[in-house]
Amino acid sequence: MTTTPATPKAKKPSSPRVAKKAAPTPPPMFSFKAGTGAVAEVTAGGPVPTKGCDVAVVAVYKEGELTAAAKRADVDTEGLVANACKTDKNLGNAGSCRVVFNTAKAGAPVYVLVGLDEADKLNTKTLRKATSAACEALKGLKPAKVFFAVNQEVPKKSSDKEIAALCARTITESFYSFSACKKQDEDAAAPPAFELACTKSTQEAVEKGAAIGQAIGNGMQLTKDLGNLPGNICTPNYLAETAKALAKQYKLGVDVLDHKKMEALGMFSLLSVGKASSEPPKLIVLKYNGAKDPKEAPVVLVGKGITFDTGGISLKPGAGMDEMKYDMCGAASVLGTMKAAAEMKLALNLIVVVPTAENMPAGNASKPGDVVVSMSGQTIEILNTDAEGRLILCDALTYVERFNPAAVVDVATLTGACIVALGHVNSGLFSPDDELANELFKAGQNALDTAWRMPLDEEYHEQLKSNFADMANIGGPPAGSVTAACFLQKYTKAYSWAHLDIAGTAWHSGKAKGASGRPVPLLAEFVMKRAKS
Ligand code: BES
Ligand code: MN
Ligand code: ZN
Repeated sequence: MTTTPATPKAKKPSSPRVAKKAAPTPPPMFSFKAGTGAVAEVTAGGPVPTKGCDVAVVAVYKEGELTAAAKRADVDTEGLVANACKTDKNLGNAGSCRVVFNTAKAGAPVYVLVGLDEADKLNTKTLRKATSAACEALKGLKPAKVFFAVNQEVPKKSSDKEIAALCARTITESFYSFSACKKQDEDAAAPPAFELACTKSTQEAVEKGAAIGQAIGNGMQLTKDLGNLPGNICTPNYLAETAKALAKQYKLGVDVLDHKKMEALGMFSLLSVGKASSEPPKLIVLKYNGAKDPKEAPVVLVGKGITFDTGGISLKPGAGMDEMKYDMCGAASVLGTMKAAAEMKLALNLIVVVPTAENMPAGNASKPGDVVVSMSGQTIEILNTDAEGRLILCDALTYVERFNPAAVVDVATLTGACIVALGHVNSGLFSPDDELANELFKAGQNALDTAWRMPLDEEYHEQLKSNFADMANIGGPPAGSVTAACFLQKYTKAYSWAHLDIAGTAWHSGKAKGASGRPVPLLAEFVMKRAKS
């Protein structure tokens, strides 16, 4: 049997200069101001917390219940805040927002009031809603400096640090815009500087939290930029160059395996996917050594990096095919998580592996019925060339055995069937390891980047049986996301493994088309919890 796919043409990868350097949005800056939260200070007049700020964001609860900061603002505005709550009954609802110009005092800040629902039901979701609503208002107001007091409202189950992290991340997310491919930046409002409110006793926690939130926000920004870049720019080579740039910035180990090296390793499944493209496939390896013990078993994240998925010979229909530039969002999310982890200097060892290729039809493309040998030695009948994600992931999953990982999580825009099952709310979470599944589930809940566990019963494996090879690469229409995960499971026996199907969560379609940055928050939370603090 031939196992050697034709070598891609030795053409130089094209990178037309139609884009400015990615990462176009500078992240917002955070500083901190103590002595602003106590009601005692408010009633006593207290220090003016908003000095030097053009806008102050304060929260109110339902039924006109004012937070400490809102009480302070009410004193400052001689009753305008309480009055706004009285006249606008919706103002207390999470997601609602109102701008109050301070006509009482010259030179005083503009107040942005945001609702948080009922005080006794305060939770991270409402805090996130309120923070994004405030940011939308801020984009219109265009202040230079903002005093932000919403993070002082801390739910019982959370800490000051966690809430500061959530607010800083949400602010960073909200000010994201992508204009790398436009001649002129259109709505790229430069984010204001933010002063997060704190007291003397919470200052340290708020500072630490904001740094965490900003690191995660920055990781998400990289993930969104890579996702949003078009397929003619964000090629396998572009992902490799991005990894090298990250390695340089954060002093990471980096290794990019080319066609020849992958051939020597026997990665014929991966190579079969990229062989009809003039952009050569690659396997990217990034290593971060943050653990005290350099020999500590690493967490390994593997991300699907199909920089464009035409479907190959099993060609996709034309409508909406542009969105298949997002088929590298798994790769983008593990690179974004690496950025966040390195920025936070987490005390763990983390390895990111990205198998990357472009899935194209051509005279030398794989055909339905072709059989290839994977690096594991197991043979695969390619019944559908559009089920290519699993074909590149299986070889990457065999490759990572060499790291003796503590856990391996792969992340992939793997199946349309996952969108049918879970929509755009939850990522699909698959793992035969209950402990790892629970860990990832909880990380998703804590980070407000949720995943829902899906089954992996032995019976589903039946659907992958082939008359001509050890397995087929598709399992027919029933439970399409499960059989895709079952396929991967056949390559992950050597370690604790989980799979995240992010087909429904990695980007938004329609008018607000754009990468979401998910599941960076989930993965960042997962590695943070694994790290020794
Ligand atoms: N990248 C797609 C999955 C996908 C489709 C993600 C739409 C997000 C939106 C994947 O490579 C694919 O084409 N999967 C096929 C599998 C099928 C041929 C078994 C699918 O889902 O249709
Ligand atoms: Mn496909
Ligand atoms: Zn795909």
